[in-house]
Formats: sequence, C-alpha cells, structure tokens
Amino acid sequence: MFTMKGEWANDAPPQLMILSGAGLSAESGIRTFRDAGGLWEGHDIDTVCNFDNWRDNLELVHGFYQARREAAAKADPNPAHDAVARWQTRWPTHILTQNVDDLLERAGCTDVCHLHGRLQDMRCYDCDYEWEHGLGPWTVDQDACPDCGSTRGVKPGVVFFGEMAPEYRTLQRAMDSLRPRDVLLVVGTSGQVLPVARMGLEAPGPTILNNLEPSDVIPDRCFDHTLYRPAGEAVAEVEALLARYLD
Ligand code: APR
Ligand code: ZN
Repeated sequence: MFTMKGEWANDAPPQLMILSGAGLSAESGIRTFRDAGGLWEGHDIDTVCNFDNWRDNLELVHGFYQARREAAAKADPNPAHDAVARWQTRWPTHILTQNVDDLLERAGCTDVCHLHGRLQDMRCYDCDYEWEHGLGPWTVDQDACPDCGSTRGVKPGVVFFGEMAPEYRTLQRAMDSLRPRDVLLVVGTSGQVLPVARMGLEAPGPTILNNLEPSDVIPDRCFDHTLYRPAGEAVAEVEALLARYLD
C-alpha cells in the first residue's frame, strides 16, 4: 500500500511529485488509450473494463488483460522511465502513476503508487484475497483464487470504470502536501480520468506538463511549463527545469 513517506514537513527540502499516464510508457511500445490506435479504439470499455458487468464477460476481460500483460512483459523501460528513476535518487520524489505496467519499477523506481492498480495483480471478489499473479497467463474456469478456489470471482487487479480507486486518497493527500517550493510534473496523461487541469491550477509551486499535444482538457494556462513532445525527447529540458527549482 503506498503511503506518503512522512507527510511533507514544512522544513523538508523541496520535493518532486510526478503524476504519469499511458504516454510515459508509449515509447516502450505500450499502447495508450485515447491516442490514434489507442486501446479504446479496438476495445469496448463497457465490455472489458466495467465494474458492473465484468463477471458476465470473464473470457473477454481476462483475454484483454492477458494481451496487456504480454505486451508489458515484452516491453522495456524507455529513457523517460530511466529519467524518473534518476530523479528519484537526486531529489525527494513521490511517483504516482495511472499506469498498470511495471516499467517504472523495472527502471529502478521505488514506492511507485499505482492509482489504477497493477497488471501483475489478481483479486478475488468472492473472498477479497489479492495476490501477485505476475505477467503470465490466466485461464478462465481453470485458474482459481489461491485462497477460496473461486474461478469466476477473480478479476485482474486493475481498477475498472465504476470501481473505487483505493489509492485515490493518496493522490489527494499528495496534492494537499505540496508546498510552494515543491514541483508537480505531469507526464503522458490526457487528464480524462483525473482532474489534472485542476491539479495544475491548485499546486502551490511550479508545475510542468509533458504531453504530445495541447488539449482543451488541460489548457496551457493550467501549467507554468508545457512541453509537447515525446517524453523521451523532453527529458533533458524537464531535468533542467527540475534542477532549477529543486537543487
Ligand atoms: N510522451 C509524452 N506524452 C505522450 C506520449 C509520449 N511518447 N504518447 C502519448 N502521450 C500523451 C498523449 O498526448 C495523451 O495526453 O499521453 C496521453 C495519453 O492519454 P490517454 O491515452 O487518455 O491515457 P491516460 O491519460 O493515462 O488514461 C488515463 O484512463 O482508460 C483509463 O485506466 C485508464 O489509466 C487510464 C486512464
Ligand atoms: Zn477467493
């Protein structure tokens, strides 16, 4: 369970809070959701990611997440993941991601808060048991919950639409902990699921946004610095901004 390592005491040195989305893993070959060719183009959210009816679509749900686990297993961290790991050793850094892959951890990041869960987890909704299944296959009606043996009550440990995101409070606490000398960096998210625009306006300190293109969901005025280019290409410029604010 991600907990903020000691609330950001007022006299603590400047901190970096990073909120990332699918765009951070795009250069590792993992599809985003709403860009051209994104996951939601070829799949019906209501069939594969809806908390109200997932038990009726078990084969489609597990098939969709099996494909995503296979894609994650084949992917490698990209320079943007590596940069986040580097920044975490250089400055006190809190990493919150909407991504369910493990590329930040494989780049060397620690204490990553997965706001939408993790692909490698499974959760049984018949007995509430949650475990790390890994990125291997899951066969419906064959594989079962290790605790109660249920086969049709097991769902990937990813937060579905209509499901409460347990880590949401962590995000709110992290935002509430930001002080004027702390930096908020948002990278690779359309802000469709989180109020990113509001976060950019509410953060008391410097704010940086790195996406591919401007969006009316997150107008430029919401951030002090906006970089519209692939995260891997923006690393040097983002790092220079962070050094200016955090060193
Ligand atoms: N570098 C930086 N940004 C990128 C890159 C890249 N290489 N490629 C794409 N982006 C940006 C796009 O400009 C877009 O703003 O990443 C964002 C991807 O947006 P989405 O596909 O909507 O992904 P995300 O914001 O993470 O979705 C949030 O929605 O469906 C749910 O649970 C799912 O966690 C996901 C949530
Ligand atoms: Zn169970």
